[in-house]
Amino acid sequence: MSVLFQPVTVGRLHLKNRFVRSATNDYLGRLDGAISEQQLELYRELASGGVGLIVTGHAYVHHPLGRASVNQNAIYDDRFIEGFRGLADAVHVEGAALVLQISHAGRQTPQDWPADQVPVAPSAVQEGTTGRTPRALTDAEIWSIIDAYVAAMVRAKEAGCDGVQLHIAHGYLLSAFLSPYTNRRTDAWGDSLGNRCRILREILTRSRRVMGEAYPVLVKINSTDGFAGEGYLTLADVVAAARCLVEWGVNAIEVSGGQREAKGVMSRPKVLEIEQEAYFADAARAVKAAVNVPVILVGGLRSLSVMEDVVASGVADLVALSRPFVCEPDLVNRFRAGQARAVCASCNACFNPAGLRCRRPV
Ligand SMILES: Cc1cc2nc3c(=O)[nH]c(=O)nc-3n(C[C@H](O)[C@H](O)[C@H](O)COP(=O)(O)O)c2cc1C
Repeated sequence: MSVLFQPVTVGRLHLKNRFVRSATNDYLGRLDGAISEQQLELYRELASGGVGLIVTGHAYVHHPLGRASVNQNAIYDDRFIEGFRGLADAVHVEGAALVLQISHAGRQTPQDWPADQVPVAPSAVQEGTTGRTPRALTDAEIWSIIDAYVAAMVRAKEAGCDGVQLHIAHGYLLSAFLSPYTNRRTDAWGDSLGNRCRILREILTRSRRVMGEAYPVLVKINSTDGFAGEGYLTLADVVAAARCLVEWGVNAIEVSGGQREAKGVMSRPKVLEIEQEAYFADAARAVKAAVNVPVILVGGLRSLSVMEDVVASGVADLVALSRPFVCEPDLVNRFRAGQARAVCASCNACFNPAGLRCRRPV
């Protein structure tokens, strides 16, 4: 049997196989951010399709400045727990596990952002795709965001989710703190790598005090800003940060990259050849060599043989996919039945604020 169908453990969480549906915002939440019927249906279908672990789309922890997209799910209040409980129950019935991903938009605010609201970020660095310049968070505001993260993590546990994933990737607030490009602070939240990681340390150590040591906490981390050169995030910093994250209680690290200004880095278009797949493999290998928790690779994984190589050669312990599950929610069952490659053409038409769907006939 392929190594990908062998069970694996993340902290205390037992997964039936090594396939992960990477966090995917489906733009299908209710207007107020609650889980919708359509989402229940979507997750039921995914879970019955054979995947071991589903990570939800990112839900925002702080209202209103933390919202990153239209119809995004929210987890900033206890009233959202019930919807996630329904989602976790639906996924569990099908034998899969559910991890709730949580985020704060930071400077990457959505298209429908009200003109009178100023986004917040570590520093006032203009965001190129919207032209908006955020204002730098005050010390008191950073502490209130830390509290919001901890409260959201507790809500994930109360909802019966099998774990929570901190979104430290793709240019949203936590990755903006990590990167020297977006974090130009000279106080205790910036400058040195230790200070840029301080918000992560506070969230992780405080949440452990409230939730206990056992609840699975995962992270998805940027391995690059998506730009090369002086002043951007380096892989050496990421590897050092990964070591710290494990020390602060993280149970698994998913390796990704890119931010909104760096187009085509996170979800690289037209991944059609085997050589184009697994585009963050080098970064994942470097992280894996530095930590003793499972590493999850995401980005352009399409062929079963490539994914087997990723695990067999020690690049990562689990493989995560996003776009392929949009057109083939039952992809893992298809692999088990002998299909060799996902049909996804990486056309990126699934980035659709009107609701996640594939436009390619399968
Ligand atoms: C429509 C869409 C929504 C996404 N939403 C999220 C998200 O909520 N959180 C996240 O960490 N990544 C998100 N991503 C990025 C994916 O999880 C993944 O990292 C990226 O697409 C590369 O993997 P793939 O080649 O398998 O698609 C999204 C991607 C797509 C296409």
